[in-house]
Amino acid sequence: MQSDVQDMGLVAQGWQRILWADGEMPVLRLIRERFARERPLAGLRVAACLHVTTETGNLMRTLQAGGASLALCASNPLSTQDDVAAALVEHTHLPVFARRGEDRATYYRHIGQALETHPNVTMDDGADLVSVLHSQRTDLLGDVVAGTEETTTGVIRLRSMARAGALRYPIVAVNDANTKHLFDNRYGTGQSALDGLIRATNLLLAGRTITVAGYGNCGRGLAMRANGMGAQVVVTEVDPLRALEAHMDGYRVMPMPEAVRVSDVLLTVTGNTAVIRREHFEVMKDRAIVGNAGHFNVEIDLAALADLAVERRPVREHVEEYRLPDGRRIYVLADGRLLNLAAAEGHPAAVMDMSFANQALSLEYLARRGRSLAPDVYTVPPEIDQQVAALKLSAEGVRIDTLTEQQAQYLRSWQEGT
Ligand code: ADE
Repeated sequence: MQSDVQDMGLVAQGWQRILWADGEMPVLRLIRERFARERPLAGLRVAACLHVTTETGNLMRTLQAGGASLALCASNPLSTQDDVAAALVEHTHLPVFARRGEDRATYYRHIGQALETHPNVTMDDGADLVSVLHSQRTDLLGDVVAGTEETTTGVIRLRSMARAGALRYPIVAVNDANTKHLFDNRYGTGQSALDGLIRATNLLLAGRTITVAGYGNCGRGLAMRANGMGAQVVVTEVDPLRALEAHMDGYRVMPMPEAVRVSDVLLTVTGNTAVIRREHFEVMKDRAIVGNAGHFNVEIDLAALADLAVERRPVREHVEEYRLPDGRRIYVLADGRLLNLAAAEGHPAAVMDMSFANQALSLEYLARRGRSLAPDVYTVPPEIDQQVAALKLSAEGVRIDTLTEQQAQYLRSWQEGT
């Protein structure tokens, strides 16, 4: 099938970068070697809607080694690395539908093209593939056995589909594996979102006040890393437990209307809509910078900002200035889209190693068990989670203790007390 990528002249650069990332993905590499021997995915047609990055390139190589036939489309219009898209077409011959900066119509056309391969399995990041299948392409649902979902936002969407009785096939929530969300969401987003902020602005973080909206795993990572760079971190939350945690982790916790008055930078990672909105723009500091690292570009109400502004102009790559009638300037990063993937390269390969090991092993599990599962959202089997943790530790050269027989016996018993 014909691919749709930006520039086949970028093949050499893309392949070189995929191989560099592979060096940081030892767990996925081990799985790839085993898959090449055992071919557990033979005969499976997989449509993947993922950020087209070097790390995703290595996941595709792994699934292909396992015998799957693949189609890949972008899960965000701004995150595609065009050199990777070109290199995958050239070196793996799988159809790729992804161009960085594609408009909304092209984005959905690409999803449609990936679905045209009549997949048995969907691999989603944000649940757009599933959503299109369940709304516009229900004719293809008969072929689909199962799916996986990579991210928090997608899992929330799928759970609400399952609750409404709308979900038509089983999906494994890869995001919910411990070796995914405790690492990718925290250390991955923590580092890559700051990387995006710094690449876009070259800002010195030390001494700045940075507000992190949302204290889930992504927010925790972001706050921790911003703090480590010398920023004064403010956290906004709606959940009392998470807010208390942020407070006891040493951050200032306050409502958004107060946070916007003191912040130099505001970053949203809530997964919710209109987190920064008109009433907040009205009182922001001059030269405040706003960005988003949540999955969808709904967290910053840019329509409201555009409505307030008297002038708009790009001032750097990925930075747009909105000038308000009183002269204040507000800078928006990457048009409110995933800052870490639009202005930087997404999470580093070493952390995607675990996320994508979970993807590969979940797919193997579904190839075996998918047909026996009812339509619902499933967690990654704990053995897979444990295996990924053990393999990662071993690859990092970290050894751990084992229980003595006496300790194992102690944990099993209930008689022993004071
Ligand atoms: N999500 C966040 N970072 C990513 C990356 N580097 N590759 C694929 N998906 C991602």
